[in-house]
Amino acid sequence: MKNNYSEKSKIFFDSVAESRYGNSKKLDKYILKDIEIDDNTTILDLGCGDGRFLEKLRDLNSNNVLYGLDISEKMIAVASSKKIKRCKLTIGDSNYLPYNDGSIDLIVCLNSFHHYSTPSLTLKEIKRVLSLDGRVIIGDIFTLPIIREMINLYLPYSKSGDYKMYSKKSLDKIFNVEGFKNQKFSIISPWLFVSVYKK
Ligand SMILES: C[S@@+](CC[C@H](N)C(=O)[O-])C[C@H]1O[C@@H](n2cnc3c(N)ncnc32)[C@H](O)[C@@H]1O
Repeated sequence: MKNNYSEKSKIFFDSVAESRYGNSKKLDKYILKDIEIDDNTTILDLGCGDGRFLEKLRDLNSNNVLYGLDISEKMIAVASSKKIKRCKLTIGDSNYLPYNDGSIDLIVCLNSFHHYSTPSLTLKEIKRVLSLDGRVIIGDIFTLPIIREMINLYLPYSKSGDYKMYSKKSLDKIFNVEGFKNQKFSIISPWLFVSVYKK
């Protein structure tokens, strides 16, 4: 059964699926400049929304396999309408990734991780599906510690199913439990960070 945060996210993102919600050019540009993809690099966009970043990944290489997963049925419908080649889209929760063990080389998760209310379960799944050398790129909301703490107090009341804003330390802590090492942490704007982990 879906938890309260997942249910709220699903309802909210279904309602904004046609509105290009979550579009962040700055985040895209920063991440895309560092990604190297060959024909065999399998990539999952976790919480892919309307598929806008999958389109950009497809522009980098037209042959590799792409996956997109999102809890919002309507977001996945919009992504499907884009008919991105060699891209398999799934409606689903981050806690249950429908991919084989070790089958994904890179997971990108943009502006979505802060919605996951049981991140330890998501991370177990991420670890399971990642290949031996796999990497995870989290791009998410950032702010100063005091503001973050205040926002975190109010998040349980958010209509869009936001669960937690992370600092580098708190994000590293949950990734470390599953044996991930942080490779890079960058604050790319007053409101956004990018953190890269390796298995
Ligand atoms: C702010 S949008 C970002 C979408 C996309 N990553 C982008 O950058 O445009 C957050 C997305 O995370 C999805 N989401 C929230 N909770 C989720 C969960 N537990 N499992 C999978 N997707 C989830 C939402 O449905 C929504 O599409």
